[in-house]
Amino acid sequence: MLKPNRSLFSAVAAGLLVAGLALPTSASALTLGFAQVGAESEWRTANTQSIKDAAKAAGITLKFSDAQQKQENQIKAIRSYIAQKVDVIAFAPVVTTGWDTVLKEAKTAKIPVILTDRSIETKDDSLYVTMIGSDFTEEGRKAGKWLLENYKGQGDVNIVELQGTVGSAPAIERKKGFEEVIKADPRFKITRSQTGDFTRSKGKEVMEAFLKTDKKVNVLFAHNDDMAIGAIQAIEAAGMKPGSDIIIVSIDAVKGAFEAMMAGKLNVSVECNPQLGPQLMEIVKAVKAGTPQPKRINTKEGVFPMETAAKEFPNRKY
Ligand code: AHR
Repeated sequence: MLKPNRSLFSAVAAGLLVAGLALPTSASALTLGFAQVGAESEWRTANTQSIKDAAKAAGITLKFSDAQQKQENQIKAIRSYIAQKVDVIAFAPVVTTGWDTVLKEAKTAKIPVILTDRSIETKDDSLYVTMIGSDFTEEGRKAGKWLLENYKGQGDVNIVELQGTVGSAPAIERKKGFEEVIKADPRFKITRSQTGDFTRSKGKEVMEAFLKTDKKVNVLFAHNDDMAIGAIQAIEAAGMKPGSDIIIVSIDAVKGAFEAMMAGKLNVSVECNPQLGPQLMEIVKAVKAGTPQPKRINTKEGVFPMETAAKEFPNRKY
């Protein structure tokens, strides 16, 4: 079987680009290495599906890895994509810090890196091309705003918080946005706050512990729907009614949250859109074609209170 001659292929491709001509589809086939966070939530499953479907639709060869929420696994995956000389690397960083070394390796290998979903902290912005994802601080603000405007009880409001993965952008930023808004009313106080790692099982476990030590919980703020759904089980097991005895505010707006809202057990879910695949593939192509990208691309999102759940549910795609 004849093997394609890479240098001849590259020379032809470069010639076409210089001449301003589009490459034929087969010649322009790109390989994308994607290092996913894990499969911790309904949101993440939808995000993975969106990336796989969009790569297929765009004719991009996808190398995909699941890091099981561990940074060292993501770093290993990125190094293996560098070794395999993929055209572009994209990843959803599990935590914000500790990426500079591996991203410098990608830069030295001249492989562009795109961040999806979660941002990183770095002093060197040249280590990635762009970041596509949600404004998590704004999601936290929307959750806080809904609570201040809709909470009907009198007196002090004790809020327990289920945080996302420690050190992750959504956990840091959602907390910040929520606190920024609720501090406007001194009745509202976060009395307990702990990580539930964005999973149902941890959300349930931590909520059980909260309820054992604290008999006066008015509100639960969960950084994602999966933890809220786990907490609902803990609240019911403790003989209380989620959605009325304890008001529940969460983030993502996945189908499971709509089901809980329709059952009257979850009061509101702020949308976080996982369908980043099509936009990512557009950017992969544009980056390879040398088109400059803005450093940050935000996705548009809504807020869905319980009363709107039944009407919206049939339209939900994730
Ligand atoms: O980074 C996005 C967050 O990660 C989602 O809100 C959460 O469900 C997921 O696991």
